[in-house]
Amino acid sequence: MNQVHHIRHPLVQHKLTLMRKKEASTNTFRRLLNELATLMAYEVTRDMPTQDVAIETPLEPMMSPVIDGKKLVFVPILRAGLGILDGMLSVVPGARVGHIGLYRDPATLQAVEYYFKMPSDMPERDVILLDPMLATGNSAVAAIDKVKALKPRSVKFVCLLTCPEGIATVHKAHPDVPIYTAAIDRGLNDHGYILPGLGDAGDRIFGTT
Ligand code: URA
Repeated sequence: MNQVHHIRHPLVQHKLTLMRKKEASTNTFRRLLNELATLMAYEVTRDMPTQDVAIETPLEPMMSPVIDGKKLVFVPILRAGLGILDGMLSVVPGARVGHIGLYRDPATLQAVEYYFKMPSDMPERDVILLDPMLATGNSAVAAIDKVKALKPRSVKFVCLLTCPEGIATVHKAHPDVPIYTAAIDRGLNDHGYILPGLGDAGDRIFGTT
């Protein structure tokens, strides 16, 4: 079973509530998503390895731990995943960034790929896939399939909202991939939207409603 990390921190929950409101402007939605991503980055990177390096404080030398951000690859699933990227990078500025372009065929709800660009040396890197909405799970599974083909050290999936269907789909195909989310909503409507959800995340981030 996938580990599902449901991030219940009050700041995360507060910001998510404000984002869900239909009257939240594009500006507000984008700002809150950015802030939320920064808070979630803290949880997602909790188990990152550190190594001690020699430094000098004003008083004396010491060995002190640092993380190697270059080993991380954030992979936003275009286009809504871009809304989480800056918040993550503000915490791990040395991370590499890959991109996966997928759109959902409205008739079949299946993911169709149109862009894929990753850093080299993927076998030495830990991948963190970003998509605000884990809904049917079809795009997530397609993205994980593509990334895993490059044999990275590990893969995690970060979203803002998910639902039991999305978790089950990812679990069936990729039980080893942990999911980090701020909420697990009731379910999907006939168009594959999460209920109660927050609407179309891409449209709300980019103001294309
Ligand atoms: N994608 C979205 O943007 N919203 C949903 O509710 C489901 C998928």
